[in-house]
Amino acid sequence: MLTNGREEVVKSCVSLPELNAQVFCHSSKNITKTECCYTDFCNNITLRLPIGLPLLVQRTIARTIVLQEIVGKGRFGEVWRGKWCGEDVAVKIFSSRDERSWFREAEIYQTVMLRHENILGFIAADNKDNGTWTQLWLVSEYHEQGSLFDYLNRGTVTVAGMVRLALSVASGLAHLHMEIVGTQGKPAIAHRDLKSKNILVKKNESCAIADLGLAVKHDSVLNTIDIPQNPRVGTRRYMAPEILDDVMNMNIFESFKRADMYSLGLVYWEIARRCSVGGITEEYQLPYYDVVPSDPSIEDMRRVVCEQKLRPNIPNQWQSCEALRVLGRVMRECWHGSGAARLTALRVKKTLSQLCAQEDGKA
Ligand SMILES: Nc1ncnc2c1ncn2[C@@H]1O[C@H](COP(=O)(O)OP(=O)(O)OP(=O)(O)O)[C@@H](O)[C@H]1O
Ligand SMILES: [Mg+2]
Repeated sequence: MLTNGREEVVKSCVSLPELNAQVFCHSSKNITKTECCYTDFCNNITLRLPIGLPLLVQRTIARTIVLQEIVGKGRFGEVWRGKWCGEDVAVKIFSSRDERSWFREAEIYQTVMLRHENILGFIAADNKDNGTWTQLWLVSEYHEQGSLFDYLNRGTVTVAGMVRLALSVASGLAHLHMEIVGTQGKPAIAHRDLKSKNILVKKNESCAIADLGLAVKHDSVLNTIDIPQNPRVGTRRYMAPEILDDVMNMNIFESFKRADMYSLGLVYWEIARRCSVGGITEEYQLPYYDVVPSDPSIEDMRRVVCEQKLRPNIPNQWQSCEALRVLGRVMRECWHGSGAARLTALRVKKTLSQLCAQEDGKA
């Protein structure tokens, strides 16, 4: 609830007759079962939100959205364009089978101080029972240009456009990775599934990082990571060599950030190929398109990335353009075989900010 503009934890629970499942609840004395029913957020202590929209407001929003059309399908259900108060919103619908993914993604998006112009803006999470099954909704800002993957497939980019896209992804990732200390702070977060399909392109041709369902948070006081670790969770094609080889040190949070930087290098390569200089560009391709099959196994990837130590090809003609030369160097330093030798997101952000200023100067 909002009280004097500040949020209070919603303590009321739905009544027992309304609940026909078990509930995990600390805010009501007469409900003592210890399984979460996920049927009402106010019953869930881990979703008590210090910021963002109050839970009841989230629910009200979700219940007044009218779904318009399906815009995509992923591992965890469908993404729809919906209308809410005349505005487009994106609705990701999970089946109740995938409730853990839905819950986790909603939880991460509601991390204190996560909001940033280059991270997908979360609006609400809710569940809907249509009488036969329960749909789990995640409502976010809608970006009509779709994912960076869609965008690069559709057309080419200018040099300035390429630098803006690359800088915006680095800015979003630097924010995600950064710990902000203090009461109004945020924990460091690693994404773990960074790829062009999980980055959206906004109207102003900058990016927003999406799909935080696999992310992990670092508690720097206790030096712990907030969920049990399964290293091989992301998309195989974008997995860092240490993950493919199963030698990543998962007790060090830094390792997760370094693995994200490897994936970022591959995304930069996808962008740079589509950059048009003197009318020359390359067709869109996924990283390692020429050396692994379309749905590569871990073993396929390991052979190429770890054993043969192959990386995407950096064409000679990139040397003739300053921005492509810089971005080529950055990607190489991101996909280094040793995690410790990779650039940090903040470093990439700084390098690309300079490049962006230079390019603006030229224009
Ligand atoms: N907020 C959004 N605004 C506009 N389009 C979106 C939004 N979120 C997702 N999409 C579209 O829906 C598609 C499906 O998204 P989803 O995250 O479910 O799957 P994916 O990223 O393609 O694959 P994966 O399951 O491996 O993550 C995206 O590729 C994108 O085109
Ligand atoms: Mg996705």
